[in-house]
Amino acid sequence: MRMVGTGEFEGGSVFIDGDWKPLSEGKVSLFDWGFTRSDVTYDVASVWHGAFFRLDDHLDRFFSSLDKLRMKIPYSRAEVRQILHGCVKAGGLQDAYVAMLCTRGVPPRGARDPRLATNRFYAYALPFVWIAPPEKQAQGIDLHVSGRLRIAPESVDPTIKNYHWIDLVLSLFDAYDRGADTSCVVDAQGNVAEGPGFNVFMVKGGVVRTPDRGVLEGISRRTVIELCGTLGIALRIEPVPATDLASADEVFISSTGGGVLPIAKIDGRPIAEVFPGPITKRLQDAYWALHDDPRFRDPVEY
Ligand SMILES: Cc1ncc(COP(=O)(O)O)c(C=O)c1O
Repeated sequence: MRMVGTGEFEGGSVFIDGDWKPLSEGKVSLFDWGFTRSDVTYDVASVWHGAFFRLDDHLDRFFSSLDKLRMKIPYSRAEVRQILHGCVKAGGLQDAYVAMLCTRGVPPRGARDPRLATNRFYAYALPFVWIAPPEKQAQGIDLHVSGRLRIAPESVDPTIKNYHWIDLVLSLFDAYDRGADTSCVVDAQGNVAEGPGFNVFMVKGGVVRTPDRGVLEGISRRTVIELCGTLGIALRIEPVPATDLASADEVFISSTGGGVLPIAKIDGRPIAEVFPGPITKRLQDAYWALHDDPRFRDPVEY
């Protein structure tokens, strides 16, 4: 791989066919099963103030997803790290959304055997993308609890980060129809699952609860779980009935797209008088403070 220049593709860069290119080159074939079958896995890491946060954990999850989908890429873990650094460097970005993905690829014409396709690896970096921007967070995010079921974990393993998002996307339309900002979906038993790009937490009587199954094991969710341990906050990882959200003391969501984000309302009804709630605030502050911890920082080689 060549040395890519800092700011060579100012504003963002893709990595395709073994090289860094401008964002406008970010295209895939119409015949790639990643597109025709959602046969793809991906991961998204963040760069904040010039350093990746928990990149090792994102790489672990990506390589584990590749194994579970029987996909292979022609790059080692160290090379993928170098490619991602290159995307951020080429884009001249200090705060970035950095994606890596692998599609099944294009099988020979007419073939229906996935083993015949050559898997394709792509990566890109864009300016940081928030689940909800700071202004919206301050104003108070209104979460719609949709009756739609998340695709069953027995059908699509949610620990493989995937593009099976139709349930989540339609729940977003439900939310917008009701004047809410975002949504979460439930499982067949009526327990909270997750939302479009985030995990869900509630707090009641000082105890933090988050679903134990049927969700992507978010890296931000893991950060919250670990922080509860270090901050001495009680935590239960267990099924969370969606009906419990309305009577919670606090609700928050977690995502690489913004860390810990407080929820102000459930379906238009304010959750509590104090917003953000004290436990959410502690976790949010601790989440950002961790970005200075050398264990989790991987400074971009600009
Ligand atoms: C469906 C889903 N759940 C949860 C998350 C949160 O995961 P992470 O904290 O690793 O960003 C995401 C992230 O995109 C997601 O797509």
